[in-house]
Amino acid sequence: MSMRYLYLLIVCSLFVCGTLGQAQAEADRDKLLKEPGIYATFAVYKASEQWWQMDSPARAAACAEIKKIVERYADRVTVDVHLLRGLSERADILFRVHSKEMIHNQNFLLDLMSSQLGKQLKSVDTFNGITKTLNYVPTFPDELKTELKTPPPQASTYVIVVPIRKDAKWWNSGQGVRSDMMKEHTDATVAYLKTVKRKLYHSSGLDDWDFITYFETSKLDDFNNLVTGLLKVKENQHNQVFGDPLLLGTIRPFDEILDILSR
Ligand code: HEM
Repeated sequence: MSMRYLYLLIVCSLFVCGTLGQAQAEADRDKLLKEPGIYATFAVYKASEQWWQMDSPARAAACAEIKKIVERYADRVTVDVHLLRGLSERADILFRVHSKEMIHNQNFLLDLMSSQLGKQLKSVDTFNGITKTLNYVPTFPDELKTELKTPPPQASTYVIVVPIRKDAKWWNSGQGVRSDMMKEHTDATVAYLKTVKRKLYHSSGLDDWDFITYFETSKLDDFNNLVTGLLKVKENQHNQVFGDPLLLGTIRPFDEILDILSR
């Protein structure tokens, strides 16, 4: 075998292994994001005035350090980073962290906060929750269950997070009564299944909230109509707190967000 052929073989093998490794990492990530019993932490930060006064290379080096921290935790923690800056006065950046143990989320965030960038970040909000199996959908009519299988949109532009606290009456009404109200809730959402992707986290006892609701969409007009519709259903009478804070940000590649923070 000539050296040239051997070299080509090594390069091709490395490429295939790299691609397979990446595909495996993405499959693991998708699985983690779908499983029940996964802990999520939404950590929201605002960069200090001092951060923006640092020179650009120093900020770029601090951002490179964050990338390394994310890579170091890749076997335990899945991290999504979203940009809030410009759409929010209170916050610049949202880290959405998932893992099988809340302590992994905490360890990642501790390392993040003690990094060069982290030292310049003020913690604005932190929400904690856990994913669970469906509570009400199994009792819904088959037609609605089929509708709910509509594939959600991919590669959306915007992310929205709405924490919610229910009132005592909600929790004290029977499962049947709540199921009926959740069916009415779901009926009002069917028109938006193609444009709004959603994920629900349960927070009672883990945070001051009962739920953290998370959405991705490219159509904010649809999202606005969806929420307006949901505010009119009976279940909404039991939303003691809806948002406040509500987070709106964009979904961009991590490198682009770091680049914006370094500019
Ligand atoms: C396309 C949009 C949406 C769809 C298809 C949808 C559908 C559903 C379904 C099927 C459930 C019941 C899950 C189960 O069986 O456990 C649910 C629960 C819930 N949804 Fe929505 N929803 C949407 C949008 C929203 C929005 C915009 C909010 C509020 C911002 C919201 C808040 C909630 C909450 C708090 C629960 C949990 C209720 C509980 O378990 O007591 N949803 N949603």
